Amino acid sequence: MLFDTHAHYDSNQFKEDRMEVLAALPQAGVGLVVNPGCDLATSRTAVELAETFPHVYAAVGVHPGDCADWQDSWLTELERLAREHQKVRAIGEIGLDYYWKDNPPRDHQKHVFHAQMDLAEKLNLPIIVHDREAHGDCLEAVQAHPNITGVYHCYSGSLEDAKTLVKMGWMLSFTGVVTYKNARKALEVLEWLPLDRIMIETDSPYLSPEPFRGKRNDSRHVYRVAETIALVKNLTVNEVVEATTANGCRFFGIQKPE
Ligand code: NI
Repeated sequence: MLFDTHAHYDSNQFKEDRMEVLAALPQAGVGLVVNPGCDLATSRTAVELAETFPHVYAAVGVHPGDCADWQDSWLTELERLAREHQKVRAIGEIGLDYYWKDNPPRDHQKHVFHAQMDLAEKLNLPIIVHDREAHGDCLEAVQAHPNITGVYHCYSGSLEDAKTLVKMGWMLSFTGVVTYKNARKALEVLEWLPLDRIMIETDSPYLSPEPFRGKRNDSRHVYRVAETIALVKNLTVNEVVEATTANGCRFFGIQKPE
């Protein structure tokens, strides 16, 4: 049974068929999905989807690319969602994104990130981190919150940073990007990374793995990530599937379904 630990079924790209796609996943071998929010509206939708499907869980949070209008009062709504809905298992997706030039200023992103890490600590929830082209500042930010743990989603940092995060007890998660031609750095990290620290995800509808690149992604394609990790670590695909599902269940506090 596969566990897609990061997919955005709230996305407009699923507006025609999200219910059908989600309903079909267990039969296709994907027994668990975590849907993180990126703002208040998508966090609410993530919670609704988790309340609709037994195999779907939610995270609530505001993404660095969507934090321009952030007000600290938004924390109240995120806290309410997390407290009132038992299937909210993390604060995310949150972090820093210095890639897009028109993203909010770095200091604002950092403020929003720290505020949500404080909330995660208060609620005793792990966090799902988005770090794009912000590796140094992102590591510094999470190290300032030693009482919370989390996962770096779609890990794109160095081997050295991976070693630091593993020492801190963190998880790293990988997408279909590992199937791309230019994935050398991520594969080098995977080669070293202990199996019990790896989670897999699609980041649907984005980042379709080869040979589906350029098409809309969905959780059924997460097996391609497992296949690539199996090759790199010289394991069977089944060993990777079992381990990454167990890791996801442990991280999010989910009991593996029958
Ligand atoms: Ni995402």
